[in-house]
Amino acid sequence: MGGERMSTKESLLKRLKENTGAWISGGELSSELGVTRAAVSKHVGTLRKEGYRIEAAAGRGYLLVAVPDRMHVLEVRDGLRARVFGKQAFEVHGAIGSTNDRARSMAEAGAQEGAVVIAESQSAGRGRLGRQWFSPEEGGIFLSMILRPAISPAKAPVMTLMTAVSLAEALNRLTDADIRIKWPNDIMCGDRKLAGISTEIRSDMDMVAYVIVGIGINVNTPAGEFTGELRRIATSVMAETGVRINRCALVRILLERFERNYHVLLSEGAGTIIDTWKRFAGILGKRIAVDILGTRHEGRVVDVEDSGVLVLEDEAGCRRRFHSGDIMDCNRNGD
Ligand code: BTN
Repeated sequence: MGGERMSTKESLLKRLKENTGAWISGGELSSELGVTRAAVSKHVGTLRKEGYRIEAAAGRGYLLVAVPDRMHVLEVRDGLRARVFGKQAFEVHGAIGSTNDRARSMAEAGAQEGAVVIAESQSAGRGRLGRQWFSPEEGGIFLSMILRPAISPAKAPVMTLMTAVSLAEALNRLTDADIRIKWPNDIMCGDRKLAGISTEIRSDMDMVAYVIVGIGINVNTPAGEFTGELRRIATSVMAETGVRINRCALVRILLERFERNYHVLLSEGAGTIIDTWKRFAGILGKRIAVDILGTRHEGRVVDVEDSGVLVLEDEAGCRRRFHSGDIMDCNRNGD
């Protein structure tokens, strides 16, 4: 965002990137950044520790050789066209219990809307319905954001649908994979799940205090990581397309899409978002079954309401509304 002050380390990295493939002298860097040569050398040391490969040679200066294949705040923020999301507190952890838990403590301590927590792996990643979220060390994105919308708690569920739309749009920008949304908030490629969203909320009777949006994406996770039951139900972008994508770029695009859709939602209402959600889901008119704790309900999908409630009509014309559950397409797999 224009006008925002960059740290010396950020400015140094920016200059090295602008100069990719060419050497830039310590003297030039020190006068451009307004710091001593010793300070330049200290920041180069820090960047190296963070995984940047920077060569140094007497009489030539510095050369950026490679950026880390890790989640890194500077890489996410590089060119980020957002005003709020990703511009506030931004934590990147190697390993953590759950990014949702960390974001909740930050929100309780007063962190602002737009704060982000990312981890390379989670030891206690949570999915919806109390399930575990597989969060291995390599290739995934485990991210939580803090929202402070001035809305009533009844209006909060649409945040999850808006997140699913933003995530599907971001994935569509960077991959050729056929991305679909499966009700209520799974991001699918074919029959397998690529990403999931869990939303936690704190509110009083009539006003939301904060919402934590948690997103888990299997990006460059090798297919072999999915073992046992996961082999049948989970996949990653790399497993589907054979292409590794830049995770920091994906987070950047996700934050941009998210911020735009969030703004549309709060200023214009849920209509446009729900329409896009329906296009990604392709579910209207389909015969499906909803499984709720082992009980199966079949019917034709007649609507998905703004709150995310799924409306099914059975053969007798009787309508039922579902807030959660697992769905199966009745026209596939002989269901
Ligand atoms: C689902 O079951 O589909 C939702 C999965 C959400 C997982 C993400 S990973 C980042 C954040 N931290 C968590 O503990 N859960 C969410």
